[in-house]
Amino acid sequence: MGQGVLAEPFGLADGTLHCESVSLTRIADAVGTPTYVYSAGGIRDQYRRLDEAFAGVPHRLHYSVKANSSLAVLALLREAGAGVDIVSGGELYRALLAGYSGADVVFSGVGKTERELDEALAAGVSLINVESKGELLLVDDIARRRASVAPVAIRVNPEVDVHTPHEYTRTGGRGHKFGVAYDEARALAALAGRLGNVRLLGLDMHIGSQIANFGPFDAALARLVSLLDDIRRDGAPDLQYLDIGGGLAVAYEGEEPADPERFAVGVKAAVAGADVRLILEPGRFLVANAGVLLTRVLYRKRSGGTEYLVTDAGMNDLVRPSHYKAYHHVEAVTPSGRRLVASVVGPVCESGDFFALDRETDEVNPGDLLALRSAGAYGFVMASNYNSRPRPAEVLVDRARWAVVTERESYESLVRAEWVTPDWRDD
Ligand code: LLP
Repeated sequence: MGQGVLAEPFGLADGTLHCESVSLTRIADAVGTPTYVYSAGGIRDQYRRLDEAFAGVPHRLHYSVKANSSLAVLALLREAGAGVDIVSGGELYRALLAGYSGADVVFSGVGKTERELDEALAAGVSLINVESKGELLLVDDIARRRASVAPVAIRVNPEVDVHTPHEYTRTGGRGHKFGVAYDEARALAALAGRLGNVRLLGLDMHIGSQIANFGPFDAALARLVSLLDDIRRDGAPDLQYLDIGGGLAVAYEGEEPADPERFAVGVKAAVAGADVRLILEPGRFLVANAGVLLTRVLYRKRSGGTEYLVTDAGMNDLVRPSHYKAYHHVEAVTPSGRRLVASVVGPVCESGDFFALDRETDEVNPGDLLALRSAGAYGFVMASNYNSRPRPAEVLVDRARWAVVTERESYESLVRAEWVTPDWRDD
C-alpha cells in the first residue's frame, strides 16, 4: 500500500481477503480465531477525512474511546492528532496509558462518580461535560477541595426527533436520560456562573449514533447555538467550546455512509459567526469499517429447513447483531465463488447468538474462515466472558506489518479475581 489514502482497508488479493497487505489467513493461522483485525491505514484515513472537512474552523476531534479502546488504537489516533472523549475512569486510565495528556481529554457520561471526577480533575482534563445540577454541584465541591477550578461544559438535551437504526442509540430526544433538559440549561449556566470552583467553558450535545440523516442533527445544533447566544447574553465570559458529540454513520450494508464534507457544511453554517471552538466526538466513523472479526467455521448442519454455519465466534465476542439486530456483512476469507443461504450462528447457549439469519453468503465449510465486517467499533469493547469464553485477540495491521495488540484471554485470566473458598468476614 502506498502513502496516500487507502482505497479500502480490506480487499481480495490472490483470492484471499487481506487487511492492507496482510492476508487474513496468515493472521488466523498465527493467532487463532476468533480475532479482531484492524487496519491502521483505514483508521488514519477516516480521521484525516473528517479533520480536513472541518479545515477553516477552529476544531478538534476527540475520539470517543468507547467505540474501540484498544491501547494501540488510542495511540494511533493520538499520533494522528486526536484528543479523546471518555466516559469513565477506566477510559481515562487507558487514555493516559496510551500517551494522551489531561488536556487532550473531554469527560462525558451521564453518571460520573465522585472518584471518577476527582481523577479527572487530578489529570487536568480540558472539559467535564456535566449532565445535571447535582453533578455540577459535586464538581464544584470536588474542585474546591482540590483548591482548583474545574473546566465544565453543560451537556444539553436538544430534544429533537432523532433517527437512528435502533432506539437504544438515540440520546437527544425529549425525556431521554442524557443531558440537561433544554429549558433548564440556561438556569444551570447561571448557577455555574455563581459557583466559585467551576468555569463554564462550553455547551455540549450528543444526540445519537449511526446518524445518516443530518436534518435532526442540524436542528439540534441550531437549538444549541441559540442557547449559546442566550447564555452569553446572560453573561458567560469564558463560553467558547461547542461540543457537538459524535454519531456519524458508516455503511454496514452498502447504504450511503455519512459524508463528512456535507456534515461539515451544515455544522459550519450553523456556527457561522458564533465565535466558537468546535469539539467533535466521533467513534464509529473512525474505526467501524477499519475492523473485522475473523472467525472459523466449526460445523455446518441443517435443522428444520435452515442451513446453519456454526462459528467459533459468538455473541459474547460481537453482540451487535443480537443486541441491536445490527447487520454485519459476512464473507469468506477465501471465497470459492459458490453461494448459499444460511444462518451464521455462534456456540453460545442462546437462540439470540447469531451473526446473520437466513442470509445469502459465500459457501464455506468447516475449517474455513469468515470475516464479519464493520466490526472495528463496538465490537471487542462490548465483548464479555459469557459462557466463560475468553475474549478474542486483537491484531493491528499497518501496510505489510502486523502485530498482536491484545492477547487472547487465558482461562487463568477468567478467574483471576475470584476465590474458590470465600474469604469470609463477620465484621
Ligand atoms: N459522544 C458521546 C457522549 C457518546 O455517548 C457516544 C456514543 C459518542 C460520542 C460516539 O458516537 P459514535 O460516533 O460512535 O456514533 N453500542 C452502540 C453504539 C452506542 C453509542 C454510545 N455513545 C452500537 O454498537 O451501535
